[in-house]
Amino acid sequence: MIPHRLIFVDPDPNALDAYKRLLKALRPTWSASYASNGRDAIQTMRKLKPDAMITELNMTIENDSDLLKAVQKFYPDVIRIVLSSESDAQAETILRATQSAHRFLAKPCKGEVLLANIEQAAELRKILNSRELRELISGMPYLPSLPQLYHELISAMESPLISVAELGDIIARDVSMTTRVLHLVNSAFFGLPRQVSNPREAVVMLGMNVLKSLILYVKLFFAAPDSKFPGFSLDDMWEHSSLTARLSREIARDLGGSSRVQEDAFLAGMLHDVGKLLLLEQPKYISSIKWQQSQQEDLSFAEAEYLEYSTSHAEVGGYLLGLWGLPDPVVEAVACHHRPTQISGETSPVLAATYLANALLCCKAGDEIKFDETLLNQGKIKSMLPAWTNQATRLHEELNHN
Ligand SMILES: [Fe+2]
Ligand SMILES: [Fe+2]
Repeated sequence: MIPHRLIFVDPDPNALDAYKRLLKALRPTWSASYASNGRDAIQTMRKLKPDAMITELNMTIENDSDLLKAVQKFYPDVIRIVLSSESDAQAETILRATQSAHRFLAKPCKGEVLLANIEQAAELRKILNSRELRELISGMPYLPSLPQLYHELISAMESPLISVAELGDIIARDVSMTTRVLHLVNSAFFGLPRQVSNPREAVVMLGMNVLKSLILYVKLFFAAPDSKFPGFSLDDMWEHSSLTARLSREIARDLGGSSRVQEDAFLAGMLHDVGKLLLLEQPKYISSIKWQQSQQEDLSFAEAEYLEYSTSHAEVGGYLLGLWGLPDPVVEAVACHHRPTQISGETSPVLAATYLANALLCCKAGDEIKFDETLLNQGKIKSMLPAWTNQATRLHEELNHN
């Protein structure tokens, strides 16, 4: 899918002029509208039905409500990209906006980078809308909903005055969730120096974003029955997911990712295989994959899926997280963690980190992995690979000592 219709929203007329010149020079066949405020933007959207909206942060419509949230609610298919000049000091505002935006870019942003982002967001939607994936999803009895507790935490975090203690209290209200989250936090795989006994302490020690990942993990993994299929035990999945999350965050940091990128890499690592859980409900799917593997030696689970269905558990997981409104970098990393270069252009650090962490840990577990050469040749990835391999070994050993 090529995005043909865009809308740019910015109160600065010079910025709008710059967008016009950019499109004329680099994508002359795309059409675009320009609005200097949120109200005009919404009116134009009704008529134009754009593929993507590129907006400044904090644009409002009637009653001072947020433009991004309104578009998310009334035009959910429109790709929402925030291009903002807010400084790092306003990171909280940005964090809030990114809950309703697919992508966040900081000004000044090179024209090519902006356009590549719009195209990548469109490609991701194309992957998540493929016929093969839609058929697979439509055969599923149900898709889990986003946990209520997660909603509550997101809205509580929108308040600048919320304290760590209050966030801990919100989590504590859901007793069964708290018990499960603390159980995971205190398991050996998490590598904490001491036991955590209550949610307040967990917020302080782990940070809110790690806890949010655990809440999503618990929602998905504890709803699933333990599987009869070999290689799919929930304990094994927890071990693999938590190690992938930790390694993915470290790789994102080594790639120079901001704290936001590192958090997304952790979340994507934690949730990258959720699609497998959904597919366990489909015994026919799993047995056809097993049959493929029995026919061809050295065929990995994911390779067999692509061979048989032209899609995989990765895209299924990405689809669910997209439905839940998680940010694009996380959805993309989960959807493409076995084929990181199926989206064109430079691979995002969140996707690169998730892919590499999963692949390195699968190697440690004895799987035969053919690394994606195109990805390895990007930036400093190839030169850093030996260090990350050692790190994967270290994480495994740490686990075995505990
Ligand atoms: Fe996977
Ligand atoms: Fe995995």
